[in-house]
Amino acid sequence: MSLFSSPSSKSFWITLIVFSLSYYLLLAKSTTLHTTSPPPPHKPCNKNPYEQLNLVLNEDGTVTRGPMPPESPPAPDPSLPTKVLSKDLTINKSKGTWARIYLPRETLDRNSKFPLLLFFHGGGFIYLNPAITIFHEFCFNLANDVVAVVASIDYRHAPEHRLPAAYEDAMETLHWMKTNQEEDDWLRYYADLDNVFLMGSSAGGNIAYHAGLRVAAAGGGYDLGIPKIQGLILVQPFFSGVQMTGSEMRLADDPHLPLCDNYAKWNLSLPVGADRDHEYCNPTAGDGPKKIEMIGRVGLRVLVSGCDGDPLADRQMELTRVMEMKGVKVVGYFTAGDYHGAQVQEPSNAKQLYKVVKSFISTLPSSRY
Ligand SMILES: *[C@@H]1O[C@H](CO)[C@@H](O)[C@H](O)[C@H]1NC(C)=O
Ligand SMILES: *[C@@H]1O[C@H](CO)[C@@H](O)[C@H](O)[C@H]1NC(C)=O
Repeated sequence: MSLFSSPSSKSFWITLIVFSLSYYLLLAKSTTLHTTSPPPPHKPCNKNPYEQLNLVLNEDGTVTRGPMPPESPPAPDPSLPTKVLSKDLTINKSKGTWARIYLPRETLDRNSKFPLLLFFHGGGFIYLNPAITIFHEFCFNLANDVVAVVASIDYRHAPEHRLPAAYEDAMETLHWMKTNQEEDDWLRYYADLDNVFLMGSSAGGNIAYHAGLRVAAAGGGYDLGIPKIQGLILVQPFFSGVQMTGSEMRLADDPHLPLCDNYAKWNLSLPVGADRDHEYCNPTAGDGPKKIEMIGRVGLRVLVSGCDGDPLADRQMELTRVMEMKGVKVVGYFTAGDYHGAQVQEPSNAKQLYKVVKSFISTLPSSRY
């Protein structure tokens, strides 16, 4: 329990203990599961995963995407009766990237700055954007419950722009935030650029993780001209690998994230010819653990959240374990049941997650830096 040298409140310790307990219970449970019953045989994909993903593959390597879920407009006008204001800002016109910024109304009356959470949405690197209503509502409530400025980041998609394009866009956005803070009143008056967290769900979790690795590789980012990153919040990250894990075998036909859909997304987003043990996909393969060590060295704290109804749960737990071993200050928040995406899509799960995020980010006062 020496993970945190300066806990800010007793309640945080209690939550931490509860999370650690549930995390270890889950670990114990999944270990028993695998030793007492043999893994089910892997069923090969007998359907076209691209069709299932609403994608038509074109000859030139692009895809045609099917109808997308509904979107919501931003609400920037302070005279509107809304708890959280939101507006869209262009990040890079030539790439078409942008961000939707969320400002809780209560920050307007306070003469101080608030943590900035950079949120990267999911969508298998292939589709969706910050305006999608599910993400819009998640970020709206995140800003409101945590009382933070949230910037939901749009990035280029695969296969037109394969990885590391999305990881590079994340870094470009960090530069943009630092360089353009003075140009935008919300960022200028309310966002504390010394207290920034990179957060993402599903594939967005991988983006937050890889941006974090780049910051760590640059010794904490002091020379990069970017905000001061305090930590990473990886919500049901979308990591994969060549070897199947226990939860992937157990949930190979999961309706929310069938394994063949998952592999099809990686086929479209990894560099051509790379397999799923590539560093962009599997954080613990190859010299991944050495890179994880860097995260610990520069003092980035990490929250990994997940649930055991997600085929990717074992990988998320494995990453948490390796981080712990490598000296990273990491908190695992794992719950039973649910599915991949539930922590963003289910309002009651999201509400719980906001509490976890709030205590996670408030353990470190920004004045320390
Ligand atoms: C915007 O994107 C273009 C094209 O990739 C790039 O050349 C340029 O440097 C980017 N601008 C900024 C401000 O990052
Ligand atoms: C992914 O690519 C590999 C190698 O090209 C191929 O064997 C495999 O069938 C592809 N999988 C999917 C789901 O498209």
